[in-house]
Amino acid sequence: DDEEGVVYTVRAQKGKTEIFDGIETTTYGYNGSFLGPMLRLEKGETVKIRTINELDENTTFHWHGLDVPADADGGPHDVIKPGEEKIIEFEVSQEAATLWFHPHPEGITAEQVYNGLAGLLYIEDDNSKSLGLPSDYGKNDIPLIFQDKLFDDEKQLNFIAAMNDDGTIGDTLLVNGTLNPKLTVDKEKVRLRLLNGSNARNFTFKLNTGDSFVQIATDGGFLNEPVVLKEVTLAPSERAEIIVDFSQMNSENDLALVNEDGSILLPFEVSNQSGAVSTIPGEMNDFSLTEEEMELPVTKKVELFGMMDQVTINGKKFDSERIDFTQQQGVTEVWEIYNKPDEMGGMIHPFHIHGTQFKIISRNGEAPPENERGWKDSISIEPDERVKIAVKFNNKGVYMFHCHILEHEDNGMMGQVKVE
Ligand code: C2O
Ligand code: CU
Ligand code: CU
Repeated sequence: DDEEGVVYTVRAQKGKTEIFDGIETTTYGYNGSFLGPMLRLEKGETVKIRTINELDENTTFHWHGLDVPADADGGPHDVIKPGEEKIIEFEVSQEAATLWFHPHPEGITAEQVYNGLAGLLYIEDDNSKSLGLPSDYGKNDIPLIFQDKLFDDEKQLNFIAAMNDDGTIGDTLLVNGTLNPKLTVDKEKVRLRLLNGSNARNFTFKLNTGDSFVQIATDGGFLNEPVVLKEVTLAPSERAEIIVDFSQMNSENDLALVNEDGSILLPFEVSNQSGAVSTIPGEMNDFSLTEEEMELPVTKKVELFGMMDQVTINGKKFDSERIDFTQQQGVTEVWEIYNKPDEMGGMIHPFHIHGTQFKIISRNGEAPPENERGWKDSISIEPDERVKIAVKFNNKGVYMFHCHILEHEDNGMMGQVKVE
């Protein structure tokens, strides 16, 4: 492994973080004690990333949503042992998007992410730089990782105690690892890059004033045009970029992003400063789902089933030695994902495929909602819902597909597709 040309070094580490005043909480992080740095990549560049495991347990480095050869994907086969490292190299071939990275070791992914291993990865391209969207990092272009955690009496993260039937559920919300955050903004349009980084919980984002906002991007890129919404729901691992126009709002309103139940996700303080004047372009991308793709027959069927540790895909649990599907490189196939209910009714499973961005053809036979007409790598599927997606892999190798409730994934709700 040649170190020359390494763009980023990413170390998985264990450390102490002051989440609560004056108290040290043991956490995991990349290049620090909690969460990770934002990695910015450019479309077209060749990237070398040096990954180092400084933990005392196995880990992997997975780039969620990145279209990379399987040997750079960091799936469960790519174990980096404690003290070891690996340099990966790939070309950034996909368009501008907000992606993320997290570990993926077999059976312990949920706990490592829960302890803090997660970071954002932005891809920029000529289009993203020319659209005139808010892009002043930390000022009007804000990275936001939402995660729920449960702390014990000593204010330590307690994965076991947080475990519910279907994954860890916390009573404490952290945004970018911060307790009780507040975002101060100027009177301008502000782009919020939302990531649901929770293990198992869904979030519905809306403004407490009932005002609308626009969604400009899905998991894998810009929507063709901004979609006006009053709320957007993200399942674990899903992203949405939204723009909130603060130019007409003031702080007396106690403005906040709130969840479905009204609980506060992120309060805002609007300063008296007027910020940049920007317009959101009416046309942002040329995403399309062709007639041809819509008419392709279903060639892969995926049945999601079960709850708790009784979760399966097509009746099976993950077996690292078993290849569930094969697909040709560069050939689009239609996958049909069905969430089969049980006697109890069943539950939502967010379905994710590695190494690709796919297109949603239909949900229960209907066109997807406007804010899902863009590149996706994860899709939330309701009980008894049947979705069709057009899937193409640009690279070869073995990739995972799984439920992104990480405890379901660790319980075997995962399969492998070999791209030849
Ligand atoms: Cu976020 Cu297997 O992925
Ligand atoms: Cu992934
Ligand atoms: Cu699931």
